[in-house]
Amino acid sequence: MTAIRVAVAGAAGRMGQAVVAAVEGADDMRLTVQADPALGTVLADVLGDADVVVDFTRPDTALANARECLDAGVHVVIGTSGFDAVALREAADQADANIFVAPNFAISAVLMMRFAVEASRHMAKAEIVELHHDGKLDAPSGTAAHTAELMQGDVPIHSVRLPGLVAHQEVILGDVGQSLTIRQDSYARESFMPGVLLAVRRVSALETSPVIGLEHLLF
Ligand SMILES: NC(=O)c1ccc[n+]([C@@H]2O[C@H](COP(=O)([O-])OP(=O)(O)OC[C@H]3O[C@@H](n4cnc5c(N)ncnc54)[C@H](O)[C@@H]3O)[C@@H](O)[C@H]2O)c1
Repeated sequence: MTAIRVAVAGAAGRMGQAVVAAVEGADDMRLTVQADPALGTVLADVLGDADVVVDFTRPDTALANARECLDAGVHVVIGTSGFDAVALREAADQADANIFVAPNFAISAVLMMRFAVEASRHMAKAEIVELHHDGKLDAPSGTAAHTAELMQGDVPIHSVRLPGLVAHQEVILGDVGQSLTIRQDSYARESFMPGVLLAVRRVSALETSPVIGLEHLLF
């Protein structure tokens, strides 16, 4: 079996470091490049040596990185949130390589979204409170925006940014004399890694592109 050659964009960041460790620990993958301005390595210089790029960078760089990957015929798995999804769809339409995007790679978050969608069909109103570490650049989170998009009705989102937090979300639903709270917590960045590795294994064989949401690979 030929190992999948994986480059990591944003390799020096919080998520990037976890992805580097996960790829190094996967028998069917080979880490080829760690691209990050903080490491003095630029993505464009290293694309020749990769089958798949995993991007955990910044909202203002993820789209340009994805375009560079597609131009080089390299598949891309994007975890970065807060960028223009419409422009991403346009870029994907004209490309041979595939894009997979997940606002959240944790299985518990995918389940939380699924249960929230189901609950929204039966309860009168809902609101989302998403809570993240204070280094997060975008608000609302990609997970909260994706959850609200999938749920029925107009779902307001409240964002909390505090030190000590990682990634957490509550979907609170209310109806006459009752409420339902669905809560998901990622306490460590390792929670996202099985989902990231699954996407790396599957991105080259996607039948459409972009695919948005880990639920499309799981269910
Ligand atoms: N999808 C998910 O499951 C999930 C989970 C957690 C975080 N995120 C998202 O992942 C992104 C990264 O989060 P983080 O906490 O690791 O951020 P971070 O700030 O710790 O890391 C970002 C890294 O990207 C690097 N970078 C900036 N521009 C770059 C470029 N052009 N090419 C390559 N690298 C570049 C930075 O130097 C930095 O090291 C955020 O958008 C966050 O919301 C997604």
